[in-house]
Amino acid sequence: MDELLDYVKNKQHDESRQGEALNIELEATEFKNDKYFYIESYGCQMNFSDSEIVASILANQGYSLTADIFKSDLILLNTCAVRDKAEQTVRKRLQSINELKEQKPGMMIGMLGCMAERLKSKLLEEEKLVDIVVGPDAYRSLPELIAEAEGGQKAVNVLLSREETYADISPVRLDKNGVTAFISIMRGCDNMCSFCVVPFTRGRERSRDPESIVAEVKDLFKRGYKEVTLLGQNVDSYAWRGEGKNDDKEAEVLVNFAQLLEKVALVNPELRVRFSTSHPKDITDDVLYAIAKYENICKYIHLPVQSGSSSCLKRMNRTYDRDWYINRVDAIKRIIPDCGLSSDMIAGFCGETEAEHQDTLSMMDYVRYDYSYMFYYSERPGTLAARKYPDDVEESVKKRRLQEIIDKQNQLSVENNRKDIGKIYKVLIEKTSKKSTEDFSGRNSQNKMIVFPRGNAKIGDYVNVLVESITQGTLIGKIV
Ligand code: SAM
Ligand code: SF4
Ligand code: F3S
Repeated sequence: MDELLDYVKNKQHDESRQGEALNIELEATEFKNDKYFYIESYGCQMNFSDSEIVASILANQGYSLTADIFKSDLILLNTCAVRDKAEQTVRKRLQSINELKEQKPGMMIGMLGCMAERLKSKLLEEEKLVDIVVGPDAYRSLPELIAEAEGGQKAVNVLLSREETYADISPVRLDKNGVTAFISIMRGCDNMCSFCVVPFTRGRERSRDPESIVAEVKDLFKRGYKEVTLLGQNVDSYAWRGEGKNDDKEAEVLVNFAQLLEKVALVNPELRVRFSTSHPKDITDDVLYAIAKYENICKYIHLPVQSGSSSCLKRMNRTYDRDWYINRVDAIKRIIPDCGLSSDMIAGFCGETEAEHQDTLSMMDYVRYDYSYMFYYSERPGTLAARKYPDDVEESVKKRRLQEIIDKQNQLSVENNRKDIGKIYKVLIEKTSKKSTEDFSGRNSQNKMIVFPRGNAKIGDYVNVLVESITQGTLIGKIV
């Protein structure tokens, strides 16, 4: 496995948490094995992290990873269902992969992830686009499913679990840099935001044993990694109650998120700790104090607001209102004065009025996010909103409002970045810059990307960088 790891390179890992197509293209030097698999991931970081679990399960079955789709015996798409556009992207991809299959009849196509969970056997039985369908909690059954499909049977497992965390599976790291890694600390989501399909595709929330998380972090650090990102749909509700006690909400919480953060931060001061995503209703002052206390816990919080309007937040079933959110932002600015902040916003949710939209824009002005992921509302079948509220904001209005949100964010990003000119930041070098091989890029604690000439530094080093100029998305500077 370690041997495999050394050869695996993730060519194109988009940093965005929820790009419509987070496409992991892999470059791998293949081994002399009989079977090859190829995997692409779409959606959020959780999916990316799951692909690493899947790679591990298949490597143990003697499958080798390949970047060459033509060479592969098994093509896997790890899919996202969060918006209709995400599903359309996968459908188009499946159609072109099926054309490929006509030239290589023995090849199998598997669909993993949230779209597999949502559509279950539909793509297999009705549309015959795939051979294998596996939901996010059923990856351990992949070897049996592959065998069933090889035997000509329908291979589907979309059972959701109340316990599965894959805690004992050591992921094959697909990220090429060997410096930063994702670690899933929990799975599922118990919130019921009315617009969101995730509780249906990922099942009930469950937290992973903190000992297994810390062991994974120690192992990564030993192997040269310098940054871990703890992942969950709602990390602030992380609650370890003991083995098999996820469902027993009466049981005492032995480790909460603030305590887990401390445990991970203490692994080594040279290891940076990030986390995503925080839910405004759950983020406690204890978490903020833990961030403030440890230099190696990054001063950056992704705190999706979704809407700045209390009435819209109520329809969204976010369980906080505008005042609550502002209170949390004020607490962040008080306890961690240099904290970077980002958000998710949905334009044109059911019944959204012009005044509610203006509330979102004014919230952005209040918080002054460094950046945001911005979407217009896409109705998802089966969700609370789809059942309860008509999707009644016209598409042209949704798009206009989204554009106003994007324009506002662009303006804020530039203004915030300008304030960084002249400042010196500690940067962890992650990779060679996309634009020039003479430059490196990395992030500061606040999660801003900084590009600078390489000097004598190397990937994985911490360097101090003086910011000299900016663009909307990047700081530009030199090592000092
Ligand atoms: N758990 C995270 C939270 O609560 O902030 C978010 C996870 S969700 C996978 C990522 C983002 O997708 C959400 O924050 C939301 O902005 C967006 N999203 C979810 N459902 C959507 C929908 N039906 N239409 C448009 N955007 C949606
Ligand atoms: Fe979806 Fe809400 Fe759960 Fe986030 S917290 S995954 S938006 S239901
Ligand atoms: Fe992530 Fe998309 Fe599923 S955002 S949790 S892969 S629906």
